[in-house]
Amino acid sequence: MHSMSTKNGLACSSPVLDYLEQLHRENAAVADGKLASYIPELAKANPNWFGICLVTTNGVVYEVGDSRQPFTIQSISKPFVYGLALEDNGRVPVLEKISVEPTGDAFNSISLEPGSGRPRNPMINAGAIATAGLIAGRTPRAKFKRLLETFALYAGSELTLDEAVYRSESETGHRNRAIGHMLRNFDILTGDPTPVVELYFQQCSIAVTCRDLGIMAATLANRGLNPVTGKQAIRGEYVESVLSVMGSCGMYDYAGEWIYKIGMPAKSGVAGGLIAVLPGQLGIGVFSPLLDLRGNSVRGIRVCDALSRHFDLHLFNRPGVGKSALRLNFTGAELNSSRIRTPQENDALRKFGSAIKVYQLQGNLNFATAEVVVHDVVDSADSIDYLVLDFRRVLSLNESAAGLFWQIVCKFSELGKSVLFTYADRTPLLRRYLKAKLGNRYEGLVRLFPDNDLALEWCETRLLEAAIPGHRDDSAVAPEQFELFNNLTPGAIATLVTLLKRRTYHAGEVIINAGDQAREMFLLARGSVSVMVTLGSGSRKRLATFAPGMTFGEMAIIDRAPRSAIIVADSEVECHLLSLEDFDRLEESHPDIKIRLLENLCLGFCRNLRKANRELRVLD
Ligand code: DON
Repeated sequence: MHSMSTKNGLACSSPVLDYLEQLHRENAAVADGKLASYIPELAKANPNWFGICLVTTNGVVYEVGDSRQPFTIQSISKPFVYGLALEDNGRVPVLEKISVEPTGDAFNSISLEPGSGRPRNPMINAGAIATAGLIAGRTPRAKFKRLLETFALYAGSELTLDEAVYRSESETGHRNRAIGHMLRNFDILTGDPTPVVELYFQQCSIAVTCRDLGIMAATLANRGLNPVTGKQAIRGEYVESVLSVMGSCGMYDYAGEWIYKIGMPAKSGVAGGLIAVLPGQLGIGVFSPLLDLRGNSVRGIRVCDALSRHFDLHLFNRPGVGKSALRLNFTGAELNSSRIRTPQENDALRKFGSAIKVYQLQGNLNFATAEVVVHDVVDSADSIDYLVLDFRRVLSLNESAAGLFWQIVCKFSELGKSVLFTYADRTPLLRRYLKAKLGNRYEGLVRLFPDNDLALEWCETRLLEAAIPGHRDDSAVAPEQFELFNNLTPGAIATLVTLLKRRTYHAGEVIINAGDQAREMFLLARGSVSVMVTLGSGSRKRLATFAPGMTFGEMAIIDRAPRSAIIVADSEVECHLLSLEDFDRLEESHPDIKIRLLENLCLGFCRNLRKANRELRVLD
């Protein structure tokens, strides 16, 4: 959580904060409007109170002015209670009691649907009282406790009831009591309306600050996840319903002009609070108790209007998603796994590797962004036998995106093609979705790999088995097949074989440790070994995997520096070790052999360097 207020003491002030301060300066002098007085306690407010808070869905809080001054939440409580009612009852039962149609009438209009008596929407008092009647709890006290806890989840801080305002409203709330009885008359409320109306008065009298409102709004913008505390305040699937009624009804008889000019779902309260929500991006909280004739904060509307213009926040002014979700795609002919391949294998991969296609995805995957990827996959499906979908940089994924990927899995399996998912641990919804849709076919059709490297190797192995008759990744080799011995005479090889010492290692055994002094190089005869580096997170990253016939540990033999990485046996391994002393002694005893060995080592380094250059070009 990062809170930026005027006194942040940073050398470089935040441009966002600068603008909020400018807005505060420009609007502090605006004294239009009146304090609400129909709830007497509200008339005691200081008309100069004025706070602005903007909170991003990354949890950055920008606040200026009286952002910590407590006041009562009033009607801004309505969308949050509506959300809780949806969680407690589900959409259909709630819709049976409360409609979602804007009235264009004032907040306290007794606007009930003819016949059913359903309040027109949950943002007007009638709808809000009906909503309060749907909150679960054995006693009114238990219900209010749940409300308070829920609001605290949104605000990220403990909240309390302003007893004075509650009493003041309860003592004067005759109109709302009348509404309560009207709702009882139509069986919208099924029991005594009094405790329900009292609960409504209590929810309106919860004390908040402008900062709290900013964070509550940002929690709605962040699909119910409080971006400051990381706590879920409401199930994500209900946020769209809360924001929909805020968008169409939140500003009552100003809702049309508001959404037209400012373009964000919003909600105002008669104590001077106002929230606005830009889904996926930010929440705004403004506090200034001077109200216009419609009961909306005068400075609040001005500030939101200016913010919307200045930062381009209008919901319906969004750029196309374009290919934003497709970070990069490449084929197995352009980029290979870190398994070092023989020249024959590399030729086959360059020739047939285009049948492997990797899509690196990023950002928020929804229908529009996932469609771009799926469209590209379908377009090139004829040439793809192995499709790798990389979710490493995916921030979120919704069901419609999951649905598109499920379809691709089904279509590819019908065509006998394979789909591999990497970093899918970052998108649990996707796995749940595929499991639910594929049932017992899931294990066979959804291949999950921790990273692209292992996924690519899996594809390469199968592709090479198809391209090179009898090819197997880890076929054991005899000494004369060691790459290091390429172009050496049988006699020279025989000489070298006498110098070799045979060692075997179990799977998982560390053969070389980073920092070790180098005393020999290793010629791999059976099994495979991998070069690993330990990342800052403590986890290991595979840099390369060697197959039988290849040499490893030769770099330190050449530059005599300590070992730079860990080498681990991936399986049961047999190696033949050429000691540093014996290698050096060859200079005297067999200089021609030494030269050939050095040439072959250089060829190996060139192969690895060319592979790295090729991959850097693809990844750039
Ligand atoms: O019920 C009332 O009248 C107040 N508790 C809340 C009204 C309100 O906040 C209207 N918003 N602009």
